[in-house]
Amino acid sequence: MKKIIIDCDPGHDDMMAIMLAYASSDAVELLGITTVAGNQTGEKTFLNALKVLTLLKAENLPVARGFDRPLTRELTIAPEIHGVSGLDGANLPEPGINGIEEHAVDFIIRTLMQAAEPLILIPTGPLTNIGVALLKEPRIKKNIERIVLMGGAVYDSNITPAAEFNIYVDPEAATIVFESGLPITMVGLDVTNKAMLTFEDISEIEKLAGPVSSVVAPLLRFFAQANCDIFNFQGAPLHDALAVAAVIRPGIVKTSHLHVAVETAGKFTRGRTVTDVYGILNLEPNVDVALEVDVPRFKEMMIGAIRELDKR
Ligand code: BDR
Ligand code: CA
Repeated sequence: MKKIIIDCDPGHDDMMAIMLAYASSDAVELLGITTVAGNQTGEKTFLNALKVLTLLKAENLPVARGFDRPLTRELTIAPEIHGVSGLDGANLPEPGINGIEEHAVDFIIRTLMQAAEPLILIPTGPLTNIGVALLKEPRIKKNIERIVLMGGAVYDSNITPAAEFNIYVDPEAATIVFESGLPITMVGLDVTNKAMLTFEDISEIEKLAGPVSSVVAPLLRFFAQANCDIFNFQGAPLHDALAVAAVIRPGIVKTSHLHVAVETAGKFTRGRTVTDVYGILNLEPNVDVALEVDVPRFKEMMIGAIRELDKR
């Protein structure tokens, strides 16, 4: 059984990532959720995580709030994609839990230091919490099996013509992570933009009409419509859920071991994950970069997870 921590900024696709992990208790054990500012303010992403777990009746899962802003930059949020709440589109239940008092960074450090076997970290927001945890207690490295993160891209971008949102928001923290020497899988936009539930798929989810699907369907519709308006996508790309799927079934993405550097100084290219696809720089590869994805399998997993959660 793989043991995981999800560090997230919910966010529609973060919510789907949590749901997939929670529904897949035969494959992964979710040890806790940590939140970070990103899609919305730190206050809202934390509140959203509590609401999601309340919907899932996962009240025993620890939720720890992390950083409200990036290491050195002003916070950039994404209300045009996720709405003013960060999870617009449906009414989630008011939180039935409080989360824990411990800071996300301390929760991550403590959980790793106490772990009997190495854990997998799944960051699906800006990398602020993970970067600080690595700086604050470098000994956690020996207990990190791998970091499977949603962020970056080789060829694609979304927040600027050069960069993906999570890396753009905190490129300094991303640099700490990418230069950590740890095994890293980068599940970036090259694959996550394909991990899409179409408007038709969302109509099918609507028809399930269960306690979870009836909340999720309008949320997905809002997210799909925003992605349609801005990127002309015909559905909802579930970026963050694909990172979880890649832990549950590593074969769902095909990766190449490549050198990736994060741009922190560029005038137009802040946050670009500069990937040396041809080995031009002759540098030691540091990242397993996802370049292909089995979309039908991913959809099956997502819809299976929603059905499973409806039953619980
Ligand atoms: C990433 O940015 C956020 O808006 C999403 O939740 C995802 O983590 C996609 O670029
Ligand atoms: Ca996210």
